[in-house]
Amino acid sequence: MKRKVTKAIFPVAGLGTRFLPATKSIPKEIMTLVDRPLIQYAIDEARAAGIKEFIFVTSRGKSALEDYFDHANELEAHLRRNGREDLLAILKTTNMDSGAIAYIRQHKALGLGHAVWCARRLVGNEPFAVLLPDDVIAGDKPCLQQMVEVYAETGGNVVAAMEVPHSKTSAYGILDVKEDLGALVSVRGMVEKPAVDAAPSNLAVIGRYILTPAIMRNLDRIKAGSGGEIQLTDAIAEEIVRSDNVYGFRFRGQRFDCGSKAGFLQATVAFALARPDLRDEFSQFLAEMTAVRRAAE
Ligand code: G1P
Repeated sequence: MKRKVTKAIFPVAGLGTRFLPATKSIPKEIMTLVDRPLIQYAIDEARAAGIKEFIFVTSRGKSALEDYFDHANELEAHLRRNGREDLLAILKTTNMDSGAIAYIRQHKALGLGHAVWCARRLVGNEPFAVLLPDDVIAGDKPCLQQMVEVYAETGGNVVAAMEVPHSKTSAYGILDVKEDLGALVSVRGMVEKPAVDAAPSNLAVIGRYILTPAIMRNLDRIKAGSGGEIQLTDAIAEEIVRSDNVYGFRFRGQRFDCGSKAGFLQATVAFALARPDLRDEFSQFLAEMTAVRRAAE
């Protein structure tokens, strides 16, 4: 019997240097798409997939994240006095059951693999999910939920995958495909940020993973890889050699790279257009802006 995946790790220790000066005093995960912080999207996705325990791997300067998931008693009392049940309902989505959320500090920025490894004692001998909040995925069925369903069939390790332009392969973990079954691919190898001419394919790993506890044991041992950092990709690649149980999964949905300014702006536009209360006014504005730009050219 495959164990249910109920624990998820959210690596949120990064410095967010690409968004300076904004990230000088706020964690990048608190930056908002329309009116919800990036981290809220990841949490909602995890909840939809049946995750019950949320493990944040943080670093210095991330306390705003802890406050975000806390009850805001004064604010809530104020809203209650004013009969703002609508806003109270929105705030409820930010609250966590007591004991459902844990914060672990990554004391040194040694890479994504190291960040995940920091949570090993909380994960124990269970399968677990990893969600990178920079990757925001819009879709009818949340990406991690799709993956949990696939995992119920395959077991092993399942990583989200998506075709990217060949010229961009050096920015991702790239899969070496053994057998392409459509949505699911079995994997012969995985390389972190290969040189473009050395990339085994253009199928890239996107920031959603369902992993076996063996990955933590691999992380105990592996040495620094690409960029001098301990890479999660390398720990998963080791499992291919050992157990041959690693799958790429082409999820259904649109992924936004909110770790980049262009991606963040694209996500902002897409989510604003998806909102019934903003759609009309905002699309009219976009049409006007596009017309102005065309006229200027
Ligand atoms: C991380 C992973 C990489 C993956 C990417 C997806 O890289 O190391 O394998 O393809 O996320 O967004 P980062 O973007 O943190 O450099």
